[in-house]
Amino acid sequence: MPVPDFLTLDDLSLRGKTVLLRADLNVPAHNGTVTDDSRLERLLPTLKDLHKANAKIIILSHFGRPNGKPDPAASLRPVVKELERIWEQPIAFAEDCIGPKAQAAVAALAPGQILVLENTRFHPGEEANDPEFAKALASLGEIYVNDAFSCAHRSHASTEGLAHLLPSGAGRLMQAEIEALTNALTKPERPLMALVGGSKISTKLALLQNLIAKVDILVLGGGMANTFLGAKGIAIGKSISEPDMYQTARDIMAKAESRNCHILLPKDVVVASELKSGVAVKTVPVNAVPPDQMILDLGPAAVSEIKDTLALCKTVVWNGPLGAFETQPFDRATNEVAICVADLTKRGKILSVAGGGDTVAALTNAGVVHGVSYLSTAGGAFLEWLEGVELPGVVALRLSVPKVKTGKVIM
Ligand code: 3PG
Repeated sequence: MPVPDFLTLDDLSLRGKTVLLRADLNVPAHNGTVTDDSRLERLLPTLKDLHKANAKIIILSHFGRPNGKPDPAASLRPVVKELERIWEQPIAFAEDCIGPKAQAAVAALAPGQILVLENTRFHPGEEANDPEFAKALASLGEIYVNDAFSCAHRSHASTEGLAHLLPSGAGRLMQAEIEALTNALTKPERPLMALVGGSKISTKLALLQNLIAKVDILVLGGGMANTFLGAKGIAIGKSISEPDMYQTARDIMAKAESRNCHILLPKDVVVASELKSGVAVKTVPVNAVPPDQMILDLGPAAVSEIKDTLALCKTVVWNGPLGAFETQPFDRATNEVAICVADLTKRGKILSVAGGGDTVAALTNAGVVHGVSYLSTAGGAFLEWLEGVELPGVVALRLSVPKVKTGKVIM
C-alpha cells in the first residue's frame, strides 16, 4: 500500500489532545428522527481511535442548509441523540459552535469524551470560509481531523479553512474513501467499467467527459441513455430525454471512440405508456419503441450483455440507477446488475465502488448494499471526484503535510 500524501490518525500524536473532528452528521431525518444512520456508523472507527488515545473529541458538522443563521429545524440535537445511541455513552452538546457556549462545553470535556457543537452553518462565516470564523473554531482545539469526505467538495471554514490553522490529518473514513476512489479510478486494474445512470446528462456532463478519458467501458442507463439513443437517430417514443443535448451526446460518443472507450447502450428496453406501478409493460428491441410508449428500464438482452461484459472486467465504478427503479417492475435491470456486481465482488473477481444518493438507494432496493467492495458515503463529493475535480477539503489536507513524513511527530 503506497503512503498516502496526507496525514492520517497514525501520523498524529493524539494522546490527551483536544481534537476538532469534522464529521458529516448531515444524515437523512424526518420530524426530528434520523431515518438512516449509515453516516454515523461509518464514523465509529475514527471515534474509537480518538477515544483510545484519550483525546477530547469535539465534533463539528453542518446539518441541512440553514443559510448562515440559526434555525431550530436544522439543529444537530436530534442527530446527537442518535449518535449517542450508537456510541453507547453520553455525548455532550453545545448550542453554538463558537463563542462562550462552545468554550464552556469544551472546558467541561473529559479525556475520551465526545462533544458535538451546534450546526456550523448557523454562522455565515462557515460557507464563506471566513478566516475569523475559522480562527474562532480553531481556538477550541489543538488538532484538526477531517473525516467528512462527503463534504470535501465544499470549501468551507470547517472543511477547508481549519486545515490551514492546525496540524491536520484525515480520519479513517476520509482515508478509506480516498483510497477506494483512487484505487478504482486513478490506478485501477483494467478493464475498468463505469456504470452511469440517472435521468439527465445535463447534470452529469463533466462526469461523462472525465470518465470517457479514463474507463474502458461506459455503460449508460436511465433517462440519460435515452438522450444518447435519440442522438443516434433512434425513435424513443414518449421517453424522457434532452433533445437539446443530442449534439453534446454525439460529441461524447465521438470522443469516447477516439479514446478507445466503448459506450454500451441498451439493445432492448422495457416500455410502458406511463411510469406507474401495475401498468402494462413490454420488452422491445431498442429500435422498435412505439411512439406512445416510454422507455423505463433496460431489457433482458441489455442486462445479459452488461453481465457478460462485467465478467471480463477487473474494476467497476457505479453511479446512478439503470432504470426507474423506484417503481416496480422497472427496478429489474438495476437489481440484476447489482446482484451480478455483488456476486463478482464476493468471488474476488472485481473491485467495485459505488456512490451517490440514488445509487445507495438502488443497491439497498436490490438487497446488496453491502455487496460492493466500497460504498461511498458521499453524494456530491463522489460525483465531483468522478468529474476529476480536486476536492478542496482533500487538497487542504495534502497542503498541510510537512515536507518529511516521519511517523508520530506531528504536534
Ligand atoms: C451531503 O449530504 O452531500 C453533504 O453533507 C454536503 O451537503 P451540502 O450539499 O448541503 O453541502
